[in-house]
Amino acid sequence: MSTPAFDPVARAFAPDAVGAAVRLRGWVLRSRSSGGILFVLLRDRTGSVQLTGKRDVLGDAAFDAAEHVQVEGTIAVEGTVAEDKRAPGGREVRATSIRVVHAGEPFPIFAEQTEEFRLDKRHLAIRAQDHVATFRVKAELLRAFREFLDREEVLETTPPVLTGNAAEGGSEAFQFDYFGRPGYLSQTAQLYLEAMLAPHERVYALTPSFRAEKSRTPRHLTEYLHLEVELAWCDLDGLLDFTERMVASVLHTVAERKPNELAQLGRPPAELLAIRPPFRRIEYAEAIERLRAQGFTVQWGSDLGTAEERALTLEEKAPIFVTHFPRELKAFYMLRSADDPKTVEAADLLAPEGYGEVVGASCRETDLGRLVERIREVGAPVEEYEWYLDLRRHGSVPHAGFGLGVERVLRWMLRREHIRDTTPFPRTPSRHTP
Ligand code: 4AD
Ligand code: MG
Repeated sequence: MSTPAFDPVARAFAPDAVGAAVRLRGWVLRSRSSGGILFVLLRDRTGSVQLTGKRDVLGDAAFDAAEHVQVEGTIAVEGTVAEDKRAPGGREVRATSIRVVHAGEPFPIFAEQTEEFRLDKRHLAIRAQDHVATFRVKAELLRAFREFLDREEVLETTPPVLTGNAAEGGSEAFQFDYFGRPGYLSQTAQLYLEAMLAPHERVYALTPSFRAEKSRTPRHLTEYLHLEVELAWCDLDGLLDFTERMVASVLHTVAERKPNELAQLGRPPAELLAIRPPFRRIEYAEAIERLRAQGFTVQWGSDLGTAEERALTLEEKAPIFVTHFPRELKAFYMLRSADDPKTVEAADLLAPEGYGEVVGASCRETDLGRLVERIREVGAPVEEYEWYLDLRRHGSVPHAGFGLGVERVLRWMLRREHIRDTTPFPRTPSRHTP
């Protein structure tokens, strides 16, 4: 039995559609009946359209069945497109037949429910319009990253997610039993990308990273999508140039391709189009001065937390780089600055409007001795990094890279209050289901 061809719902709004016969199928957004006429708002992936069905056209049995379809139940419809000023979008489909695919049970999600309840029902809540728009933008953002990196001849690679090294600091790694030995969920693909540099010179990976941070903040997930790039023969200026070109490029691409979704979510696309390189670069030491002038009790050596990053970026319209952090604040693999050994050749990209860190970038230490010294200083077992140290023994070159939190970027782009709204099934300390 072959399935008859169906039209996308958006077909009903095509310039030549009035008077045309259409065959639609999809989900019932809402429905009501009065005086022998059924009104249904039907949704598919391309949009939604009003249907009307008359009892005397459909017949009693079909009308009664269609009337009992619940919100989010599914139907297949044949009908004719007509103009109707009262209908959303000025068109409706006058049904000649309605077949119930799945009447469904009463949909549990409606207006006045708590956020906790919606998170419990996330598998159903993701059908709501804000989520639909968000995940369309997310898909476009991922496509834009890949397109940019492809143009720049950066090779996509597939590093592992199960690993024996906790690269970004042991305490924040999820540990599990790997056949009797400790295993970790990857916090970063960086070390593997560094290994893949020698044969490929420019590599990237788009993989989930995991952080066992208990912090319940609006910008932390325990699982997030991490875009990591590693470039051979690259210094800090080169890295920041690359990073800002990439960020501006993907913002523009998404603004051009998804203007309606952005506007719907509260971000005028013009604001993203206005963001152009170069981004402002300030040294960590200067950031500390500014914060002190604003009344923060920070000093050289203090980490920049959520509040500090917010204060630094609240008035900004474009992202800024903060560079040259104190060595002690940063990971072991970062390159010591030649002119100031207390600092490292590193930068965080902070999103404007108070959103804060979206990218962590650095040049990598190439000196074997210093690398070993730093691994010891942070209290990590040197033996476990032997394979990584090999990279400094065989054809080591100056190189640099960054990691970008995809959901962090989306949170800023889409002006979301909480990062969980940028991922369909958020993982936080209090939740790993559904
Ligand atoms: O600054 P991070 O920890 O840097 C690294 O992991 C490097 N090894 C990356 C590299 O150079 N290849 O993490 C990079 C980015 C942060 O800037 C932030 O955007 C995001 O990952 N991130 C998180 N996003 C959501 N939830 C969390 N808990 C995150 N932790 C980091
Ligand atoms: Mg960081």
